[in-house]
Order: sequence, then C-alpha cells, then structure tokens
Amino acid sequence: MTTTLPLEAIEKASRDELAALQLERLKWSLNHAYENSPVYRRKFDEAGVHPSQVQSLSDLARFPFTTKKDLRDNYPFGMFAVPMEQISRIHASSGTTGKPTVVAYTARDIDTWANLVARSVRASGARRGDKVHVSYGYGLFTGGLGAHYGAERAGLTVIPFGGGQTEKQVQLIQDFRPDIIMVTPSYMLSIADEMERQGIDPATCSLRIGIFGAEPWTNDMRAAIEQRMGITAVDIYGLSEVMGPGVASECAETKDGPTIWEDHFYPEIINPETGEVLPDGEFGELVFTSLSKEALPIIRYRTRDLTRLLPGTARTMRRMEKITGRSDDMMIIRGVNVFPTQIEELLLKQPVLSPHYQIILTKEGPLDVMTLNLEPSPESATDGHALEIARKALAYDIKALIGVTAIVNVLDVNSIERSVGKARRVIDKRNK
Ligand code: DLL
Repeated sequence: MTTTLPLEAIEKASRDELAALQLERLKWSLNHAYENSPVYRRKFDEAGVHPSQVQSLSDLARFPFTTKKDLRDNYPFGMFAVPMEQISRIHASSGTTGKPTVVAYTARDIDTWANLVARSVRASGARRGDKVHVSYGYGLFTGGLGAHYGAERAGLTVIPFGGGQTEKQVQLIQDFRPDIIMVTPSYMLSIADEMERQGIDPATCSLRIGIFGAEPWTNDMRAAIEQRMGITAVDIYGLSEVMGPGVASECAETKDGPTIWEDHFYPEIINPETGEVLPDGEFGELVFTSLSKEALPIIRYRTRDLTRLLPGTARTMRRMEKITGRSDDMMIIRGVNVFPTQIEELLLKQPVLSPHYQIILTKEGPLDVMTLNLEPSPESATDGHALEIARKALAYDIKALIGVTAIVNVLDVNSIERSVGKARRVIDKRNK
C-alpha cells in the first residue's frame, strides 16, 4: 500500500522552539558573513552594526539590506564566504539585463537544499513509490537540479527531463506514467495543449500532483490547471540568491500559500519605499536572511516579491500569501499600477479563451497603451460570436475592476509565444 511520507521533527516544533533555533542560527549566520565575507564586513561596519549586538530576532532589522546590485557589483565570486575548494556547485540566474547573478553552494548547502526540496515534495502529498517528472530547466537555472536532488532525497524515482521537446515530454508522460510533475505553471499549459493536440485528454494522464513555481500564477490558474489535468496543484517558491526552489512550499492539505521553511530562511516584510519592517499580515516586499548557508550567506536580501506573512496552518511555520507580483513586473499604465496576475485572474473567467496571454505596452504620443494578446481555447476557435462576447466582457472587466483601458485582441490558436520555462508576460516597447 502507498502511504504519505512522514514529517521532520522541526515541522512539528512549537513556535518557541522554532524561534530559539532561529536566533541561534541567525547569530551564526551574521557572524559567518561578517568574519568570512569582506563585502558583508564592510556593509556592517558602514552601518555601525556588529553580529555580537544581536540579542533577539528583531535585532536583525538594524542590519543593512542586500540587493541584486551587491551580487552584480561583486560579480562573479566576490560575495562567497568560503574558499573555492569548499564550493561544490555554482548556479546563476540569467536576469533580463546585464551580468548574471552568481550563487554558490558547499556540499552541506547542497545537502540542506535537497532536504528542503524533499520536505516540499512531501508536503505536496507525495507517496512512497511515486515517480517525479522534472520539467524545470537543468543547468545554471536552479529549478531542474534543485527539484531533482529534492525528489531523489525524498526517496522517489526521478525522471530528469528538463525543459523543451514538448512532444517528447508528452510521450514519456504517457509511457513512464509519472505521479508528480515539477514544472512552471505556464509550461504545464503548453504540455497540456500538446496532449490535446495528440488527442490525449490531459485529465486521463497518470499525474496526481503538480508542484508549480518559478513564476507568479493565480489561484484561478490553479483551479484551471487542476481541473484540466485532474491533479492537485501546489505552489513552490524560491529564488537563486536565497537557495533555489524550496525556500517555501505549499502543503496539499490546505493549499493556502507556501509555508516558509523558517528553520533555514528568516522572512521579513518591509515597506519597499522606507525599508521599515512591517508586522505580519501587512503587504510589502519579502526579505530573506539565510540561517544556515555556508558558501553564500544572504543577509536581508530584498527579493522584490510582494506578499505578506500569514500564520502557520498545516505547519507551525509561517506562510506567505501566494505571490501576486514582483515590483519588477508592476506596469504603470497612465498612472495606474497593474500586475499581470490581475489580468490573468480576469482572463480565466472566460472559458472560451485559452489561459495563454501576453501584454504589449506601447506609447501613443505621451500616453501608455496596453494591448492584451489572447488566443481562443481550441474547442472555441471557430465560435466567432462567443469569442467576441468574451473579448468585450474581458475588456469591460479590465476597465471596471483594474481601472485601465486595454485593447484586447483574440489571435489564432498558437500565435502567442510559448516558453519552456518562465513565461514572458509583458513586452514593454515604451522606451524604444
Ligand atoms: O525561479 C527558483 C525556482 C525554481 C522556484 C523552480 C520554484 C520552482 P530564480 O530564477 O532566481 O529562481 O527566480 C526567482 O522567481 O524572486 C520570484 O519573483 C519568482 N518565483 C519563484 N517561485 C515563484 C512562485 C527560481 N511560486 C524569482 N510564485 C522569485 C511566484 C515565483 N513567483
């Protein structure tokens, strides 16, 4: 008989036990950064703070933030806190502009990471004997190898497919009959499209669980994917600078936002303008401090992801609300702040439209113009009347609920660029 996999003791610890562990590890981490990374030593000295001043978790607020710029300025290896002979792996995130952000792991860091992704996989409802199809990209991106090591550590069978070759992905899903898929939600949609193209009803495939992340996706998208694929879909969150996938992950029993694995990453929410720490429950920018990382300790890293901290439910550890956007993705259209996920939410209310979308921003004289390119769902492709009603309804909803005017185009099936990893939702042509 298949059974779910047991929790670790720390997942059941009380808040007090957890806080005591966090404080002990925080002191270690700040000290390690100060003693072994000249960049952190300079930053702490300039801010007039020293690790020995930390008596409680809230003292962390006195320390300076770390940003992507710190990593870029010290490209490639300037922030590493151990000698190269102790580094077993390097990853890098491509970024859209400039130099990549380079991150590093000791053998112990890799071990911790595998344990945390294993914990995430168990939280998704994995059972002994499950096979895991990994479609996150392998290579410098942390998604593929991060998922891979974690699924293996959870004792499951891993199928290391990587991104791309969508036809072949479908063939192997049909032939190998995996139980779990780890992939970006946007690429899941492309795989489901390809199944349908091959005459396979995605709901009949062997998959039981999807562990989706690496990009923002809404609860409406979750419902759409769950229904179409006949699976339970959970949200896995992470970022290379902090570790990779598995910084936080959702528990299948509640599906109410990723539980932050707080024994290794201490979260704060700040006001992005003032840097002030906000109480739990308030919206702001998520900031993380690593509590155990050796190769690249990360102190108060500004993720640019916007969310809020919520109390634990399935675990004692706190949750983060599903990310609705990152400050980088925020579009300012004629003075109104808009996130792509707001559009996604409204789009998913129109069943004759497919969930693929792309937003193009241009200028008409001094004014911003937002064009939303969409596709019909394949079964509605010839129903011009229904598509026109949906198109108008969506344009109306965007105006009424978000407060901006959008030119909504319903193009042919397959005309929107598909990604095999993170979808590119916005093309901003305004500064060209
Ligand atoms: O995307 C790590 C990852 C791989 C997470 C696979 C989950 C699954 P980066 O390439 O460094 O790392 O990008 C990190 O992606 O700051 C968020 O803006 C976004 N992101 C990651 N997971 C989620 C999620 C990986 N579940 C950046 N929901 C982060 C929303 C996410 N956004």
